Amino acid sequence: PIVSMRELLDHAAANGYGIPAFNVNNLEQVQAVMEAAKETGSPVILQASAGARKYAGEPFVKHLIQAALEAYPSIPLVMHQDHGQSPDVCAGAIKLGFSSVMMDGSLEADGKTIASYDYNVDVTRKVVDMAHQLGVTVEGELGCLGSLETMRGDKEDGHGTDSTMTREQLLTDPEQAADFVKKTQLDALAIAIGTSHGAYKFSRKPTGDILAIDRIKEIHRRIPNTHLVMHGSSSVPQDLLAIINQYGGKMKETYGVPVEEIQEAIKHGVRKINIDTDIRLAMTGAVRKFLAENPDKFDMREWMKPAREAAKQVCKQRYIEFGCEGQA
Ligand code: G3H
Ligand code: 13P
Ligand code: NA
Ligand code: ZN
Repeated sequence: PIVSMRELLDHAAANGYGIPAFNVNNLEQVQAVMEAAKETGSPVILQASAGARKYAGEPFVKHLIQAALEAYPSIPLVMHQDHGQSPDVCAGAIKLGFSSVMMDGSLEADGKTIASYDYNVDVTRKVVDMAHQLGVTVEGELGCLGSLETMRGDKEDGHGTDSTMTREQLLTDPEQAADFVKKTQLDALAIAIGTSHGAYKFSRKPTGDILAIDRIKEIHRRIPNTHLVMHGSSSVPQDLLAIINQYGGKMKETYGVPVEEIQEAIKHGVRKINIDTDIRLAMTGAVRKFLAENPDKFDMREWMKPAREAAKQVCKQRYIEFGCEGQA
């Protein structure tokens, strides 16, 4: 059944686990997540970005989720709007039947300009007022995702800002987080700790100076009852990069967020962990491999099948690693 995100995150907090939130854009990705959840007994957060809604079209996004609910009636499922850039986008998602929305007021509605604190409070509060009346959960974001290596924002996958930022902008401030939660009354707070979207997060395996897990601990100490969200949390597994590059890909050396760091974060209040890139890497590697090994094949079902299977394996791993197994 469709459930509220709040319900899932409360359960995760009470039982000390985290839930991966997977970005989906098409049929095979939805099937991969659902099958992984079924095989591990996990709850599901499917999230669609504005880009996903544009790619698939709103009716398809809506009905892919309906199909998932119909095919897996006993799995608790949240349909979440990822990175809503304005109250209007969030209202549209709610109309479409989403049970949770993210109002990302860390940037202005153009998705580029770093927003003032007051702007962020204002738009997030607006969405909370609208959403809570309807039983819809709200995630907000405080601080800007971006790299503590380059001190630049997160622009790689086409959204976000690439302007130079200060350490203060790149790391969520615990005191300000407390004020933000109080003023907005949101349900979950996305924080900035040095992660960024996409495959190119770190030039080396990250240590505490560029991936600030300690900052999560400080924030959690200050607002222990607020569910924390980690964005840009793909682990960018080296074996997936190797498959892509072995079969004709040209990805540069890069590192993601190690699973053990996420596990540490889950001990300190992180309940939702956003993952998109790892699924993209898994599917791309599987398609490249299949087509390289079977140059005569052209039935798309034949190459989508291993891609879907590879995505499912990543999802299963994260469900198990984050403690979701048997929690649904
Ligand atoms: O916010 C980032 C997610 O990975 C979604 O990416 O906007 O390309 O769909 P997207
Ligand atoms: P990744 O690019 O690390 O998978 O992050 C996805 C994300 O944060 C979606 O909101
Ligand atoms: Na990036
Ligand atoms: Zn994100």
